[in-house]
Amino acid sequence: MKKQICLGVESTAHTFGIGIVDSQCNVLANEKDSFTTESGGLIPRELAEHHSRVGVEIISRAIEKAGVSWKEVDCIAFSQGPGIGPALSVGAVAARMLSLEHNKPLIGVNHCVAHIEIGKKKCGCKNPLILYVSGGNSQVIGYESGRYRVYGETLDIGVGNLLDSFGREIGLGFPAGPNMDEMYFLGKNYIELPYSVKGMDLNFSGLLTAAKMKIGKADEKDLVYSLMHTAFAMVVEVTERALAHTGKNELLLTGGVAASKALQKMCSEMCKERGVNLNVCPRELAVDNGCMVGWLGLLMYNSGVTTPIEKSLTNQRFRTDQQEVTWL
Ligand code: ATP
Ligand code: FE2
Repeated sequence: MKKQICLGVESTAHTFGIGIVDSQCNVLANEKDSFTTESGGLIPRELAEHHSRVGVEIISRAIEKAGVSWKEVDCIAFSQGPGIGPALSVGAVAARMLSLEHNKPLIGVNHCVAHIEIGKKKCGCKNPLILYVSGGNSQVIGYESGRYRVYGETLDIGVGNLLDSFGREIGLGFPAGPNMDEMYFLGKNYIELPYSVKGMDLNFSGLLTAAKMKIGKADEKDLVYSLMHTAFAMVVEVTERALAHTGKNELLLTGGVAASKALQKMCSEMCKERGVNLNVCPRELAVDNGCMVGWLGLLMYNSGVTTPIEKSLTNQRFRTDQQEVTWL
């Protein structure tokens, strides 16, 4: 079979990324620029401005790094959702433009499923249970008859958002997750905080409010440790139950928060007890990136799926289980 190449555009939230991958999922280029702030959070309009400003430069850098000509690119994929409206639109416009300018088929992909497929490919797992934890999303997912099913998820904010919002209150910039992950291991005392698992679903906003109210009244490192320990214990509880229900014997950890050493440690203890094989998606492909979009784009393209321009509108609420799985 002829080697194919797909260029993927990612812009669901704070990252504008362009990835170029081939049919073996070799990463030819993975260029990105992420919006950060010293204080404050993500403002949708500012994200769109950021992505518009860096977009053209990132595209040319990716093409140059990959050493490919536009002629060699077979298709253009983009994250159609879920995400933050103004941010999504910039990526969609860029992808449509590239598709029209270079006369390449366009493929709109589900961002969450893109996280899953690149993780599976890079970790070499076949049919894992997936724990997908990022700023905007927190879901426990598994493949079953034609769709990726969501067994459990957050009912309010993503676990990364929980960390970033708390971090902002104690003066860490955005994103706060990486700094807090180091602080976690310096905490010594566990402070009681609300633990909220409802069936297979999770709530983090009560935990966030309670932790914020303890700022200044408890040691900061203890508070960070306790917040993260509580949130991750909730996530691990639901994951373990989903493993038990589905009988799956591999777990795939992905999304930006998968980089957390604290979460990895807690997952690894649970997996060891259950005899489950733990896989962690490599960091550069677990955070938002264009390669995952390009890889899912190629899988879909080869299963006969393309997205006509008139159907390429973005969908802020594109759910994981709305993506028809045509490639498995
Ligand atoms: P999505 O659109 O999938 O919700 P996102 O925009 O949140 O993704 P990601 O790059 O997947 O983007 O994840 C970013 C999140 O990961 C941030 O909330 C950040 O604080 C968190 N994060 C990154 N590294 C770590 C770490 N080492 N420990 C804990 N959290 C981390
Ligand atoms: Fe993401």
